[in-house]
Amino acid sequence: MKILVTGGAGYIGSVTVEQLLKRNHEVIVYDNLSTGRLSAVAEGAKFIEGDVLDAEKLAEVFSTNRVEAVIHLAACALVGESMANPLKYYQNNVIGSLRLLEAMTNAGVKKIVFSSTCAVYGEPKEIPIKETHETNPTSSYGETKLAVEKALRWFEKSYGIRHVSLRYFNAAGASENYGELHEPETHLIPNVLRVALGEKEHVEVFGTNYPTPDGTCIRDYVHVIDIASAHIKALEILDEKSEVFNIGCGDGYSVKEVIETAEKVTGKKIKVIYGDRRTGDPAVLVASSEKIQKELGWKPQFQNLEQIIYSAWIWMKKMLEVESNQLQASQGSFHET
Ligand SMILES: NC(=O)c1ccc[n+]([C@@H]2O[C@H](COP(=O)([O-])OP(=O)(O)OC[C@H]3O[C@@H](n4cnc5c(N)ncnc54)[C@H](O)[C@@H]3O)[C@@H](O)[C@H]2O)c1
Repeated sequence: MKILVTGGAGYIGSVTVEQLLKRNHEVIVYDNLSTGRLSAVAEGAKFIEGDVLDAEKLAEVFSTNRVEAVIHLAACALVGESMANPLKYYQNNVIGSLRLLEAMTNAGVKKIVFSSTCAVYGEPKEIPIKETHETNPTSSYGETKLAVEKALRWFEKSYGIRHVSLRYFNAAGASENYGELHEPETHLIPNVLRVALGEKEHVEVFGTNYPTPDGTCIRDYVHVIDIASAHIKALEILDEKSEVFNIGCGDGYSVKEVIETAEKVTGKKIKVIYGDRRTGDPAVLVASSEKIQKELGWKPQFQNLEQIIYSAWIWMKKMLEVESNQLQASQGSFHET
């Protein structure tokens, strides 16, 4: 299939593109590089630098490429930032998605897999969280993703565009070639690993008085390769129907457990500073992914936290080596001239 991947230069996008290419799909990455990197676009994919807010450019992309399906990952994705600047989130995530859907409608492209999030649920009433759980986001980020999920239903009714919304829980880990590198980094695992590498002095833990066994928040970490494979499975059902699926492992780990596991994996002591709770952080977020397991036969291959952290650790060390070799090479060429 010829697939347009918006946000394909980002963390989850880079691994999704890599997995699509492995399965012989033809891939076009459309990304404005606001948080993504050109070096994260897998060889074999066509790259177009562009913004999902740019209706003209999108129309041109669809008119010059026979796109059969879209995987839409491009978004702003930081809960804290979305509370400080909801306008940015509504513009990029909601208006950007509508521009994309408009371009798809005009071009007659009828399949989309949408990156949604567990943030659509808000404070959960039941754990594990099923797709039928009420949606009541506690952040403007979650609200923008829910708005797009709802818009997709109307675009199906009126324009026949089928969709699968994948509500990921916490993406983590790395493939051999691609992993998580954000600036600033707000996610726990890469930050803990940066401390282990000596790139950061300490990691901050937000809140120690949650109603959990050790007082820190509990999250469901799902490997990025498993997230990528869920997209590929999702593409397969778009001929028949639209759906919403959770993507998680069903196991919850506390922040303290993540730090302890990272210490074990890296063999390094992680310095921790304990801070206050952040607004909008639910105590426990753990997925029931029974629905996608039953309906699409998707099953996470990486279910063990140690394995997930290990893959991120190996990738991060490799990245650091590449950077230091590049630095040495540039210093070498400087001395030679
Ligand atoms: N990382 C997680 O744990 C997680 C959890 C749930 C949902 N998600 C969703 O998954 C998707 C990818 O997340 P990620 O962690 O890879 O983030 P990321 O920031 O690494 O990737 C987002 C990509 O989208 C691009 N982008 C942003 N706005 C754009 C625009 N207007 N036009 C074109 N490109 C644009 C960025 O340059 C970047 O390459 C997002 O939609 C996010 O909301 C992520």
